[in-house]
Amino acid sequence: MSRRRVLYLVSISLFIGLASMLLRHLVSSPNSKLKLFSNMSTQNAAKERGVIVVGSGLAGLTAASTLISHGIRVQMLERAAKPGGNSMKASSGINGAPTKYQPGPPFSDTFFHADTVKSAGAVYQTSFKKERESLIGTLTNRSAAAIEWLTEEKGVNLSVVAQLGGHSFPRTHRGAGKLPPGASLVTTLLKSLKESPLFELDTECTVTKVLKPSTAVTGVEYLCGEKKEPKRAEGPVIFATGGFAGDAHGMLAKYRPDLAGFPSTNDPRPGSQDLLTAIGAQLLDMEQVQVHPTSFIDPANPSSPVKFLAAELLRGEGGVLLFEGKRFVNEMETRKVVTEAITNLPISKLENQDEKVKQWEILLILDEGVYKNASSHIDFYLWKKLMRKATIKDLGPTALASLKDYASGAAGHSTDLFKRDSFGHWELHDVTEDSVVYVGTVTPAVHFTMGGALISAKGEVIGEDGKGIEGIWAAGEVSGGVHGENRLGGSSLLECVVFGRVVGDEAARYLQAAKE
Ligand SMILES: Cc1cc2nc3c(=O)[nH]c(=O)nc-3n(C[C@H](O)[C@H](O)[C@H](O)COP(=O)(O)OP(=O)(O)OC[C@H]3O[C@@H](n4cnc5c(N)ncnc54)[C@H](O)[C@@H]3O)c2cc1C
Ligand SMILES: *[C@@H]1O[C@H](CO)[C@@H](O)[C@H](O)[C@H]1NC(C)=O
Ligand SMILES: *[C@@H]1O[C@H](CO)[C@@H](O)[C@H](O)[C@H]1NC(C)=O
Ligand SMILES: *[C@@H]1O[C@H](CO)[C@@H](O)[C@H](O)[C@H]1NC(C)=O
Ligand SMILES: *[C@@H]1O[C@H](CO)[C@@H](O)[C@H](O)[C@H]1NC(C)=O
Repeated sequence: MSRRRVLYLVSISLFIGLASMLLRHLVSSPNSKLKLFSNMSTQNAAKERGVIVVGSGLAGLTAASTLISHGIRVQMLERAAKPGGNSMKASSGINGAPTKYQPGPPFSDTFFHADTVKSAGAVYQTSFKKERESLIGTLTNRSAAAIEWLTEEKGVNLSVVAQLGGHSFPRTHRGAGKLPPGASLVTTLLKSLKESPLFELDTECTVTKVLKPSTAVTGVEYLCGEKKEPKRAEGPVIFATGGFAGDAHGMLAKYRPDLAGFPSTNDPRPGSQDLLTAIGAQLLDMEQVQVHPTSFIDPANPSSPVKFLAAELLRGEGGVLLFEGKRFVNEMETRKVVTEAITNLPISKLENQDEKVKQWEILLILDEGVYKNASSHIDFYLWKKLMRKATIKDLGPTALASLKDYASGAAGHSTDLFKRDSFGHWELHDVTEDSVVYVGTVTPAVHFTMGGALISAKGEVIGEDGKGIEGIWAAGEVSGGVHGENRLGGSSLLECVVFGRVVGDEAARYLQAAKE
């Protein structure tokens, strides 16, 4: 390079440096007349500080990973002391189709979209049809790429595939190892993020407000630890704050008063959708809440608002439900029917029970046949003391008669009282007081909230005018419209990864555009 050219370059860059200093000075001076530049100052700050990601579940971690792959700085704010959210608890797996891990002829599963639309139910036709179409299209079209990203780029093992209810193909992926899928995804992404100098994670910091001085979001206000003075972070914002299934006395009570006070499989904590409506976001499907009919009441802590799921397969493989010693439903019915049958019964008055927790005392009973088939699950519940081994005399005289009757139906000697026609692996036919059974107490629990903030297929938070609000995106359970009336098992982890990647790319593009 010639000497003259070097000099020229140096003077140009000096000039740019001085000019931008001057500009910044003008913009930051309180009485600046340069209103024109009012959104440039926020963009400058954003460039330096990067993107703010609220929530450290799978959606937030995916968005952060994506941003960092674009070389963009991330400040992640998390209310809890430990990162991972409810994503950490996911136990069945993540959907994707078609993938090379699915059994059968390679890439033959083309039904994921149809299964998802079917599961979404009537609301798919009756409201926000165009929006739902593009959200479900994005979810299923990008599912294979999501699995590929996790396995090839992030190194997560997802080689085991199961078929869950509502799916016409096996397409729910999990690892071959011992770690459940949620924990495996969260720990892998978090580990790689922590290796990047661009990543900052602030735990015990709750976002209390989204800043939107005019048309664009410019940052958030948040409170850390016991501090009373809020802090501010400036920059574009990605909202990945999860659902409100654990908000029993707040949002759940507001949108589904019939479920107020129900225990949950999620951590008890307030939902954060209100922070989005405060800046003009629209909500949809807020009354669409998934309730699981059977979660364990832990005898050591009966009034805990957090419950452990009693796997659905326990009923499927032959389990019986009793209330005060009597059957009350065909256990093979859908989640909804079984839940309704339970909640029509008198509520529990367990001693020591916190009156704020609304639950029922239903016995779930298995025999040795069911145990043999599902021993890995049942051993775990026994170890956790959520189930116990007992003899029928411990359960009272009514239970003996009910189980004799059930066993007679299972053996084909009589028609079942509730027309149940499949009894799984139940093999106890000669029921006596001394027959051995496995028993746990179960109650319905709120599991997942389908509703949330309306987003576009690009993850933009849609305002009241039907347009994306500038500077903010949402992904994961905080959003609504992806699942309609019913979420397919395995599709919420998928939603986190698909839309987490989308919003990461979109926020990166926004910052890059601001740079130019
Ligand atoms: C027991 C259980 C098993 C499940 N199994 C499966 C499964 O097998 N497959 C599947 O697809 N789905 C499953 N799900 C559902 C799935 O785990 C969740 O829907 C999904 O993980 C939600 O991820 P997320 O990133 O949107 O939110 P989360 O993982 O819940 O993370 C949100 C985070 O945001 C934080 N946060 C919220 N508000 C604020 C705020 N104002 N400021 C700062 N931080 C905030 C929260 O503390 C939380 O850490 C399961 C759920 C449970 C409870
Ligand atoms: C900045 O403000 C101008 C004028 O108000 C607007 O047209 C533009 O879209 C804004 N851009 C960004 C990135 O904020
Ligand atoms: C998904 O893919 C199908 C088939 O390629 C296409 O017709 C559809 O428009 C796509 N949907 C979305 C939302 O990308
Ligand atoms: C996943 O783990 C299993 C068991 O360790 C192993 O056999 C398999 O090859 C792994 N798959 C991939 C894609 O790494
Ligand atoms: C349990 O039974 C099902 C069929 O009902 C079968 O597919 C499965 O392999 C059995 N599992 C065990 C561990 O026996």
